Amino acid sequence: MLKLPGLIDPHVHVREPGGAHKEDWDTATQAALAGGVTIILAMPNTQPPIFDEATLKFSLDAAKQKARCDYGQYLGAGPNNADIAAALAPKAAGLKMYLDSTFGELRLDDMTLWTPHFQKFPKSAPLVMHSESRTMAAAILFSAIHDRPIHIAHVSLKEEILLIKAAKEKGIKVTCEVCPHHLFLTKPSPLRPSPSGRGVGGEGRTEVRPRLATQQDVDALWANLDVIDCFATDHAPHTIEEKDSENPPPGFPGLQTMLPLLLTAVDAGRLTFDAIIQKSVINPRRIFNIPEQPETWVEVDENAVYEIKAAEGFTRCGWTPFEGWKVKGKIRKVVLRGKTAFEDGKILAEAGYGRDVRE
Ligand code: NCD
Ligand code: ZN
Repeated sequence: MLKLPGLIDPHVHVREPGGAHKEDWDTATQAALAGGVTIILAMPNTQPPIFDEATLKFSLDAAKQKARCDYGQYLGAGPNNADIAAALAPKAAGLKMYLDSTFGELRLDDMTLWTPHFQKFPKSAPLVMHSESRTMAAAILFSAIHDRPIHIAHVSLKEEILLIKAAKEKGIKVTCEVCPHHLFLTKPSPLRPSPSGRGVGGEGRTEVRPRLATQQDVDALWANLDVIDCFATDHAPHTIEEKDSENPPPGFPGLQTMLPLLLTAVDAGRLTFDAIIQKSVINPRRIFNIPEQPETWVEVDENAVYEIKAAEGFTRCGWTPFEGWKVKGKIRKVVLRGKTAFEDGKILAEAGYGRDVRE
């Protein structure tokens, strides 16, 4: 039996308010615990988005009642809320800036809209960018100009990881995360419509932002693991019906599959166990100013081999891009602040047990 600290996932879409048929604070935090994750930071692209005092309060009230693991809630950067966001910074996980198009209405198209957020949001509070490719280069330039740390979400391309490496070498205060799906899946070929290669579902199930990339990109991420500060799921559940519809929204669930996939990579000699702890506990704790969780750990049967099945997922979305994948390393038990929160497939923490990491 292997023992790890509880993992921190800095990138989760909880979907409350406005998308509870996909997920809510209850089911998202159940999926987290079943995946060995004891802290989630929730993204603000809900409906309505979380961007001011009232919407932040709405989300935090729902979390207080329903969350089963610990949590924080991001604010979204909009065209007019830089002062409000800065004032609310102590209560929020951080500020998320959407600089490229994605699911939801939060988007800052024009660079003049970035400046007030870079100027006003406290330098000690996390500033997270959805910025792909050349937009990422612009975000890193803003970080240098304003001399403030930024964290780049879901790096997926070779050109991106090499850019971040070069920026770090120049002393620019940039950190980044990579998602399991960008480490383990590649852009689907027309002959292979499903990322699992099993022919379940259609093209919609391969839709995610950033898109799945080429084998060369995936190889570059693995070759530059030392540049990657955090693992993050970007758990972005959409129902199986939505994914298989004419107009499939982008996003994959990921909370329950991240640790088993990473442990399988350790078994295959592609990753070290220490790297998991560094990128899923130590670094996110530092980057996102998260307090330690006393008496909190995850017990893993490192030799247990099993198949990933959506039917065993706690998420409401009803599918996984890793359906049928054989993994080695099963999460047996999660203890959160002295209480057994998950054991042998059952959630034992009650709704409302979770705490706000900013309280
Ligand atoms: C996310 C979602 O569905 O909210 N989708 C995705 O493909 N990652 C949006 C996002 O993280 O940009
Ligand atoms: Zn996301």
